[in-house]
Amino acid sequence: MLMASSNHRAARLDAPRLVQHPPLLRATGLTKRYGGRLAVDNVSLEVYPGEVLGVVGESGSGKSTLLRMLNLEEQPDAGTYTLHLDGIAGQDLFALDRFDRRQVQIQRIGVVYQNPHLGLRMRFTSSGNVAERLLIAGERSFETLRAAARESLSASEFPLDRMDDPPRVLSGGMQQRVQLAKALAMKPALLLLDEPTTGLDVSIQATVLDTLKRLQREREMTIVLVSHDLGVIRTLSDRVMVMRYGQVVEAGLTDQILDDPQHPYTQQLVHAKL
Ligand SMILES: Nc1ncnc2c1ncn2[C@@H]1O[C@H](COP(=O)(O)OP(=O)(O)OP(=O)(O)O)[C@@H](O)[C@H]1O
Ligand SMILES: [Mg+2]
Repeated sequence: MLMASSNHRAARLDAPRLVQHPPLLRATGLTKRYGGRLAVDNVSLEVYPGEVLGVVGESGSGKSTLLRMLNLEEQPDAGTYTLHLDGIAGQDLFALDRFDRRQVQIQRIGVVYQNPHLGLRMRFTSSGNVAERLLIAGERSFETLRAAARESLSASEFPLDRMDDPPRVLSGGMQQRVQLAKALAMKPALLLLDEPTTGLDVSIQATVLDTLKRLQREREMTIVLVSHDLGVIRTLSDRVMVMRYGQVVEAGLTDQILDDPQHPYTQQLVHAKL
Protein backbone atom coordinates (compact mmCIF):
# COMPACT_ATOMS: atom_id res chain seq x y z
CA MET A 1 0.00 0.00 0.00
CA LEU A 2 1.14 3.49 -0.71
CA MET A 3 -0.08 6.40 1.32
CA ALA A 4 -0.17 9.96 0.19
CA SER A 5 -1.55 12.99 1.91
CA SER A 6 -3.54 14.39 -0.99
CA ASN A 7 -4.44 11.24 -2.75
CA HIS A 8 -7.33 10.63 -5.08
CA ARG A 9 -7.03 6.89 -5.02
CA ALA A 10 -6.61 6.00 -1.41
CA ALA A 11 -9.00 3.08 -1.70
CA ARG A 12 -7.24 1.58 -4.72
CA LEU A 13 -3.65 1.52 -3.61
CA ASP A 14 -3.30 -1.98 -2.25
CA ALA A 15 -1.08 -4.31 -4.20
CA PRO A 16 -3.32 -7.39 -3.84
CA ARG A 17 -0.76 -10.11 -4.67
CA LEU A 18 1.55 -8.75 -2.00
CA VAL A 19 -0.65 -7.61 0.85
CA GLN A 20 0.13 -10.60 3.05
CA HIS A 21 3.73 -9.44 3.51
CA PRO A 22 4.73 -6.45 5.57
CA PRO A 23 6.14 -3.67 3.40
CA LEU A 24 9.87 -3.87 2.89
CA LEU A 25 10.10 -0.09 2.87
CA ARG A 26 7.98 2.25 4.91
CA ALA A 27 8.58 5.98 5.03
CA THR A 28 6.30 8.49 6.66
CA GLY A 29 6.10 12.26 6.51
CA LEU A 30 9.37 12.79 4.67
CA THR A 31 10.07 16.49 4.47
CA LYS A 32 13.17 18.29 3.19
CA ARG A 33 13.79 22.00 2.92
CA TYR A 34 16.64 23.81 1.21
CA GLY A 35 16.64 27.32 2.58
CA GLY A 36 13.09 28.54 2.10
CA ARG A 37 12.29 25.95 -0.55
CA LEU A 38 10.31 22.87 0.38
CA ALA A 39 11.84 20.22 -1.91
CA VAL A 40 9.91 17.28 -0.43
CA ASP A 41 6.75 17.95 1.53
CA ASN A 42 5.31 15.32 3.84
CA VAL A 43 5.68 12.32 1.54
CA SER A 44 4.78 8.86 2.82
CA LEU A 45 5.22 5.62 0.96
CA GLU A 46 5.31 1.88 1.37
CA VAL A 47 6.88 -0.60 -1.03
CA TYR A 48 6.29 -4.32 -0.78
CA PRO A 49 8.91 -7.02 -1.38
CA GLY A 50 9.45 -7.61 -5.08
CA GLU A 51 7.53 -4.54 -6.06
CA VAL A 52 8.63 -1.70 -8.34
CA LEU A 53 7.38 1.74 -7.39
CA GLY A 54 7.78 4.41 -10.06
CA VAL A 55 8.11 8.05 -9.07
CA VAL A 56 7.27 10.59 -11.77
CA GLY A 57 7.00 14.35 -11.89
CA GLU A 58 8.47 17.24 -13.78
CA SER A 59 11.89 18.71 -13.14
CA GLY A 60 12.26 20.11 -9.64
CA SER A 61 9.33 18.16 -8.18
CA GLY A 62 11.55 16.56 -5.54
CA LYS A 63 12.11 13.08 -6.97
CA SER A 64 15.88 12.97 -6.55
CA THR A 65 15.70 14.53 -3.11
CA LEU A 66 13.25 11.82 -2.08
CA LEU A 67 15.56 9.12 -3.44
CA ARG A 68 18.60 10.59 -1.67
CA MET A 69 16.69 10.39 1.61
CA LEU A 70 15.78 6.76 0.87
CA ASN A 71 19.49 6.14 0.22
CA LEU A 72 20.34 7.73 3.59
CA GLU A 73 22.47 10.36 1.86
CA GLU A 74 20.22 13.15 2.95
CA GLN A 75 18.80 13.70 6.40
CA PRO A 76 15.18 14.87 6.28
CA ASP A 77 13.85 17.76 8.34
CA ALA A 78 11.03 15.46 9.37
CA GLY A 79 9.94 11.90 8.77
CA THR A 80 10.74 8.29 9.57
CA TYR A 81 12.11 5.46 7.45
CA THR A 82 12.21 1.73 8.15
CA LEU A 83 13.26 -1.31 6.14
CA HIS A 84 11.71 -4.59 7.21
CA LEU A 85 14.96 -6.59 7.18
CA ASP A 86 16.80 -8.81 9.66
CA GLY A 87 18.67 -6.78 12.23
CA ILE A 88 17.11 -3.41 11.43
CA ALA A 89 13.36 -4.03 11.26
CA GLY A 90 11.42 -1.42 13.17
CA GLN A 91 14.39 0.93 13.55
CA ASP A 92 14.11 4.44 12.21
CA LEU A 93 17.09 4.53 9.90
CA PHE A 94 17.40 8.30 10.19
CA ALA A 95 18.09 7.84 13.89
CA LEU A 96 21.11 5.57 13.31
CA ASP A 97 24.58 6.90 13.94
CA ARG A 98 26.87 7.59 10.98
CA PHE A 99 28.59 4.20 11.08
CA ASP A 100 25.42 2.11 11.23
CA ARG A 101 23.78 4.22 8.58
CA ARG A 102 26.73 3.66 6.25
CA GLN A 103 26.51 -0.09 6.85
CA VAL A 104 22.82 -0.10 5.94
CA GLN A 105 23.56 2.01 2.90
CA ILE A 106 26.31 -0.31 1.70
CA GLN A 107 24.85 -3.67 2.57
CA ARG A 108 21.10 -3.25 2.13
CA ILE A 109 20.62 -0.56 -0.52
CA GLY A 110 21.90 -0.22 -4.07
CA VAL A 111 21.67 2.96 -6.09
CA VAL A 112 22.06 3.98 -9.72
CA TYR A 113 22.25 7.69 -10.52
CA GLN A 114 21.46 9.42 -13.76
CA ASN A 115 24.90 10.95 -13.70
CA PRO A 116 27.55 8.20 -13.46
CA HIS A 117 29.99 10.69 -11.93
CA LEU A 118 27.86 10.62 -8.79
CA GLY A 119 28.02 6.84 -8.48
CA LEU A 120 31.44 5.89 -9.84
CA ARG A 121 35.09 6.71 -9.47
CA MET A 122 35.83 7.47 -13.07
CA ARG A 123 39.54 6.68 -12.85
CA PHE A 124 39.34 3.38 -10.96
CA THR A 125 38.92 0.23 -13.00
CA SER A 126 35.30 -0.80 -13.53
CA SER A 127 35.88 -4.02 -11.59
CA GLY A 128 37.47 -1.95 -8.81
CA ASN A 129 34.38 0.23 -8.63
CA VAL A 130 32.22 -2.83 -8.14
CA ALA A 131 34.58 -4.52 -5.68
CA GLU A 132 34.87 -1.39 -3.56
CA ARG A 133 31.51 -2.03 -1.96
CA LEU A 134 32.57 -5.49 -0.84
CA LEU A 135 35.89 -4.14 0.36
CA ILE A 136 34.16 -1.57 2.54
CA ALA A 137 31.89 -4.32 3.82
CA GLY A 138 34.99 -6.19 5.03
CA GLU A 139 35.92 -8.60 2.24
CA ARG A 140 39.73 -8.83 1.91
CA SER A 141 40.47 -11.70 -0.45
CA PHE A 142 41.53 -10.39 -3.85
CA GLU A 143 40.25 -13.53 -5.60
CA THR A 144 36.85 -13.25 -3.93
CA LEU A 145 36.59 -9.55 -4.76
CA ARG A 146 37.52 -10.16 -8.38
CA ALA A 147 35.09 -13.07 -8.73
CA ALA A 148 32.26 -11.09 -7.16
CA ALA A 149 32.95 -8.10 -9.41
CA ARG A 150 32.97 -10.37 -12.43
CA GLU A 151 29.70 -12.01 -11.41
CA SER A 152 28.00 -8.69 -10.78
CA LEU A 153 29.27 -7.13 -14.02
CA SER A 154 28.16 -10.20 -15.90
CA ALA A 155 24.66 -10.03 -14.36
CA SER A 156 24.52 -6.42 -15.52
CA GLU A 157 25.48 -7.57 -19.02
CA PHE A 158 28.66 -5.55 -18.99
CA PRO A 159 31.29 -6.75 -21.52
CA LEU A 160 33.79 -8.52 -19.28
CA ASP A 161 36.73 -7.83 -21.57
CA ARG A 162 36.32 -4.18 -20.51
CA MET A 163 36.21 -4.82 -16.76
CA ASP A 164 39.66 -3.37 -16.17
CA ASP A 165 38.89 -0.19 -18.10
CA PRO A 166 38.01 2.87 -16.03
CA PRO A 167 34.45 4.21 -16.50
CA ARG A 168 35.76 7.45 -17.99
CA VAL A 169 36.69 5.64 -21.21
CA LEU A 170 33.37 3.75 -21.46
CA SER A 171 30.15 4.67 -23.25
CA GLY A 172 27.21 6.04 -21.24
CA GLY A 173 25.35 2.74 -21.46
CA MET A 174 28.38 0.81 -20.20
CA GLN A 175 28.86 3.28 -17.35
CA GLN A 176 25.27 2.67 -16.28
CA ARG A 177 25.94 -1.07 -16.33
CA VAL A 178 28.96 -0.54 -14.05
CA GLN A 179 26.77 1.48 -11.69
CA LEU A 180 24.20 -1.29 -11.78
CA ALA A 181 26.85 -3.95 -11.10
CA LYS A 182 28.12 -1.89 -8.17
CA ALA A 183 24.58 -1.47 -6.88
CA LEU A 184 23.99 -5.23 -7.08
CA ALA A 185 27.36 -6.30 -5.65
CA MET A 186 26.09 -6.67 -2.10
CA LYS A 187 22.81 -8.23 -3.24
CA PRO A 188 20.82 -5.39 -1.70
CA ALA A 189 17.23 -5.77 -0.59
CA LEU A 190 16.34 -2.40 -2.07
CA LEU A 191 17.43 -0.90 -5.37
CA LEU A 192 17.04 2.82 -5.97
CA LEU A 193 17.19 4.03 -9.57
CA ASP A 194 17.32 7.74 -10.40
CA GLU A 195 16.70 8.24 -14.12
CA PRO A 196 18.89 5.22 -14.91
CA THR A 197 18.45 5.48 -18.68
CA THR A 198 17.99 9.22 -19.18
CA GLY A 199 20.62 10.67 -21.47
CA LEU A 200 21.33 7.37 -23.24
CA ASP A 201 20.60 6.84 -26.94
CA VAL A 202 17.16 5.33 -27.42
CA SER A 203 18.52 1.95 -28.58
CA ILE A 204 20.97 1.77 -25.67
CA GLN A 205 18.21 2.86 -23.31
CA ALA A 206 16.15 -0.12 -24.43
CA THR A 207 18.96 -2.60 -23.76
CA VAL A 208 19.63 -1.20 -20.28
CA LEU A 209 15.91 -1.32 -19.56
CA ASP A 210 15.81 -4.95 -20.71
CA THR A 211 18.63 -5.78 -18.29
CA LEU A 212 16.83 -4.03 -15.42
CA LYS A 213 13.61 -5.82 -16.21
CA ARG A 214 15.28 -9.23 -16.35
CA LEU A 215 17.16 -8.66 -13.10
CA GLN A 216 14.01 -7.46 -11.37
CA ARG A 217 12.12 -10.54 -12.51
CA GLU A 218 14.86 -13.04 -11.73
CA ARG A 219 15.80 -11.62 -8.33
CA GLU A 220 12.34 -10.33 -7.40
CA MET A 221 14.00 -7.08 -6.52
CA THR A 222 12.27 -4.29 -4.67
CA ILE A 223 12.86 -1.09 -6.58
CA VAL A 224 12.06 2.59 -6.33
CA LEU A 225 12.47 4.00 -9.82
CA VAL A 226 12.56 7.73 -10.46
CA SER A 227 11.97 8.81 -14.02
CA HIS A 228 10.28 11.57 -15.93
CA ASP A 229 10.00 9.12 -18.85
CA LEU A 230 6.58 7.51 -18.70
CA GLY A 231 7.68 4.80 -21.12
CA VAL A 232 10.38 3.70 -18.67
CA ILE A 233 7.90 3.86 -15.81
CA ARG A 234 5.36 1.76 -17.68
CA THR A 235 7.96 -0.84 -18.61
CA LEU A 236 9.18 -1.43 -15.07
CA SER A 237 6.74 -0.18 -12.45
CA ASP A 238 3.90 -1.98 -10.69
CA ARG A 239 2.69 1.21 -9.08
CA VAL A 240 3.31 4.88 -9.64
CA MET A 241 3.50 7.91 -7.42
CA VAL A 242 3.17 11.32 -9.09
CA MET A 243 5.00 14.24 -7.49
CA ARG A 244 4.54 17.96 -7.93
CA TYR A 245 6.17 20.71 -5.87
CA GLY A 246 7.44 18.12 -3.42
CA GLN A 247 4.04 16.57 -2.78
CA VAL A 248 2.36 13.40 -3.97
CA VAL A 249 -0.61 14.41 -6.09
CA GLU A 250 -1.71 10.96 -7.21
CA ALA A 251 -0.67 7.35 -6.71
CA GLY A 252 -1.91 3.94 -7.81
CA LEU A 253 -1.38 1.02 -10.15
CA THR A 254 0.71 1.96 -13.18
CA ASP A 255 -1.96 1.18 -15.77
CA GLN A 256 -4.60 3.09 -13.81
CA ILE A 257 -2.43 6.15 -13.46
CA LEU A 258 -1.12 6.20 -17.01
CA ASP A 259 -4.33 5.15 -18.78
CA ASP A 260 -6.86 6.91 -16.60
CA PRO A 261 -5.17 9.75 -14.70
CA GLN A 262 -7.50 11.55 -12.33
CA HIS A 263 -5.46 14.53 -11.23
CA PRO A 264 -5.21 17.38 -13.76
CA TYR A 265 -1.44 17.50 -13.31
CA THR A 266 -1.09 13.79 -14.12
CA GLN A 267 -3.42 14.23 -17.09
CA GLN A 268 -1.15 16.97 -18.33
CA LEU A 269 1.98 14.81 -17.85
CA VAL A 270 0.41 11.83 -19.63
CA HIS A 271 -0.99 13.86 -22.51
CA ALA A 272 2.27 15.71 -22.99
CA LYS A 273 3.88 12.36 -23.79
CA LEU A 274 1.31 11.32 -26.42
N1 LIG B 1 21.41 20.24 -2.59
C1 LIG B 1 20.45 21.14 -2.85
N2 LIG B 1 20.55 22.41 -2.42
C2 LIG B 1 19.58 23.31 -2.66
N3 LIG B 1 18.44 23.05 -3.31
C3 LIG B 1 18.28 21.80 -3.77
C4 LIG B 1 19.26 20.79 -3.56
N4 LIG B 1 18.80 19.64 -4.13
C5 LIG B 1 17.62 19.92 -4.66
N5 LIG B 1 17.28 21.22 -4.45
C6 LIG B 1 16.03 21.87 -4.86
O1 LIG B 1 14.96 21.04 -4.45
C7 LIG B 1 13.96 20.98 -5.46
C8 LIG B 1 13.75 19.52 -5.88
O2 LIG B 1 14.91 19.09 -6.57
P1 LIG B 1 15.10 17.59 -7.07
O3 LIG B 1 16.48 17.51 -7.63
O4 LIG B 1 14.75 16.67 -5.99
O5 LIG B 1 14.02 17.51 -8.23
P2 LIG B 1 13.80 16.39 -9.33
O6 LIG B 1 12.34 16.08 -9.33
O7 LIG B 1 14.73 15.27 -9.13
O8 LIG B 1 14.14 17.17 -10.69
P3 LIG B 1 14.83 16.61 -12.05
O9 LIG B 1 13.73 15.89 -12.80
O10 LIG B 1 15.26 17.86 -12.76
O11 LIG B 1 15.97 15.74 -11.68
C9 LIG B 1 14.42 21.88 -6.58
O12 LIG B 1 13.82 23.13 -6.41
C10 LIG B 1 15.91 21.97 -6.37
O13 LIG B 1 16.41 23.19 -6.85
MG1 LIG C 1 16.31 14.47 -10.27
